[in-house]
Amino acid sequence: MAFLDHHKHLERNATLLLGGSLLVVLIGGIVEIAPLFYLENTIEEVEGVRPYSPLELAGRDIYIREGCYTCHSQMIRPMRDEVERYGHYSLAAESMYDHPHQWGSKRTGPDLARVGGRYSDAWHVQHLTDPQSVVPESIMPPYAHLMETRLDGEHVGELMETHRFVGVPYSDEQIAAAQADFLVQADPLGDGDVGAMTDRYPGAAAANFDGLAGVSEMDALVAYLQVMGTMVDFSTFTPDASR
Ligand code: HEC
Repeated sequence: MAFLDHHKHLERNATLLLGGSLLVVLIGGIVEIAPLFYLENTIEEVEGVRPYSPLELAGRDIYIREGCYTCHSQMIRPMRDEVERYGHYSLAAESMYDHPHQWGSKRTGPDLARVGGRYSDAWHVQHLTDPQSVVPESIMPPYAHLMETRLDGEHVGELMETHRFVGVPYSDEQIAAAQADFLVQADPLGDGDVGAMTDRYPGAAAANFDGLAGVSEMDALVAYLQVMGTMVDFSTFTPDASR
């Protein structure tokens, strides 16, 4: 056949074959990648997912700094054993405001994507201070030093601005109130306006997590752990099949 005769030339000429291969890969690449620039959104938005409160965001930074992700993943895969152990599989929208995401790839400890609300604040503080005191066989290292570092939230607004720069929709109002919201979430019985904070961040758990005066790194980390996986109400969630 004439067509296959032409192909013979292509196969016998290395330069031509390389050029032809590149052309094919290029077309395939454009077909896959170009639509992503025109789609408004590649993540299905889900009701309830909101940006982190200032205290949660600061706690998330501590989580990253301490390398918790080296032992813990934050992604429940859609497989039966995972869903039975950890709860509903993770949705893309649940980490849409995570920069960078903390999905992780290694589980020395359990997945934490839905750890929020599973334990009391006191349990977390005790566990982070001395893991073996609550789980004797645990190999998790202690993080008691987090109680010692006090935070004033002076720069948390700037942290939020950085997240806004990469696409998290923090409003000017949220950034202006950053430090006040930060302080009141860890000291809800103090002078601050807790209601204004929870209006801005629905469902944010306000508590004196570590039981000490002022805000510690422990407060921030526990606030973050307690919000993990709690934003979407799975009793009413139905996947949108139309997309
Ligand atoms: C060397 C590995 C390692 C590191 C690092 C680590 N953990 Fe763990 N973690 C574990 C193991 C193992 C367990 C299971 C035993 C236990 O509960 O202590 C665990 C359990 C937990 C649990 C309880 C989860 C559940 O569903 O029962 C939480 C919460 C947790 N870790 C948070 C953290 C945080 C926050 C950090 C960082 C400050 C961290 N871990 C760092 C290994 C680790």
